[in-house]
Amino acid sequence: MNDGDLHVRRLASAADALPFAPLTFPTFHRTLFALGHESGPVMLGASRRGEPVGLALAIVKSDTAQLLSLAVATHARGTGIGGKLMVELESILRGEGVARMELNFTDPNATSEAWRRLLRRAGWSEPTPRMRLFTLGRGSLETVARARWMSRQEPPVDCALFPWTDLTSAEEGELRAEVGPDSWFPPVLSPFAMADPIDARLSVGLRYQGRVAGWLIAHRIAEGTVRYTSLFVRQVSGLRGAGLVLLAESIRRQLSDPGRDVAATFGIEIQNPLLAFAERRLIPHVEVVALRTSFTSGKWIEPGHAS
Ligand SMILES: CC(C)(COP(=O)(O)OP(=O)(O)OC[C@H]1O[C@@H](n2cnc3c(N)ncnc32)[C@H](O)[C@@H]1OP(=O)(O)O)[C@@H](O)C(=O)NCCC(=O)NCCS
Repeated sequence: MNDGDLHVRRLASAADALPFAPLTFPTFHRTLFALGHESGPVMLGASRRGEPVGLALAIVKSDTAQLLSLAVATHARGTGIGGKLMVELESILRGEGVARMELNFTDPNATSEAWRRLLRRAGWSEPTPRMRLFTLGRGSLETVARARWMSRQEPPVDCALFPWTDLTSAEEGELRAEVGPDSWFPPVLSPFAMADPIDARLSVGLRYQGRVAGWLIAHRIAEGTVRYTSLFVRQVSGLRGAGLVLLAESIRRQLSDPGRDVAATFGIEIQNPLLAFAERRLIPHVEVVALRTSFTSGKWIEPGHAS
């Protein structure tokens, strides 16, 4: 597509994508550089007079495309580039037989209003809340560490905590082989869901009767900020309360390194019972630096589909 000075084109190789990398989060750089490989992403770049000003990045699984990132350079926002990238991306994906597009976005943020308008205009479903996202100050972790539920946490019988870096390669192989729609953990909470290197000090695993049955995986997402990315414990009666044991251990580890971390961020899915616990027992007692919600939206794009 060529609209005056604006040029929107599909990017075909990692070399093509390189100049657009600053327009997406570092966490997606690995995906971006898989361009050109089978099952690689679909990427569109928008340039104005040769300067990269917009990027859309999607991955396709079976007949559904997940829009991972859509961003326009700060100085070029509000001039229709985001809308154009959406229209063009939809048309390419439809041409490739994709039936549906989906995406998640965070609200509030500096551009969430533009994002909502863009989705509405493009005929996407009304966004629905998916996950609550909390960012706590470091002082909050100290408060949490003094809470009664923290000091009461002992691993249940037959359970042992271990640093995630001690996971054996046999255990890793077994878990990786189990990732899928029928696995005992949701793929989104897989310890390997994020390609980024984990925080070795704060990530903790749990073995139950000698087998891996839970984990808390943490990532350092910015200087001074740790993200508690996934906390999961197998649904077995002997493991009740083990999630809090993992959480308590990781928080203790974070606090044992004074001065380094100023904030911790984590998300809890809307239908997870832990959300009520966090909102009742945690949030009222701590300094919440930011409280956001991740929304999800989608659009059927296959010809003839009535949405
Ligand atoms: C969201 C984003 C991609 C929109 O790109 P854009 O090129 O500015 O969007 P457009 O110019 O096509 O405008 C889209 C709609 O938002 C509206 N809009 C643009 N800037 C706005 C602003 N500052 N406040 C409110 N609405 C705004 C436009 O009027 C338009 O709505 P309309 O069609 O009803 O008139 C861009 O703001 C951005 O890069 N944000 C940061 C990255 C991000 O958060 N991405 C989403 C999650 S991956």
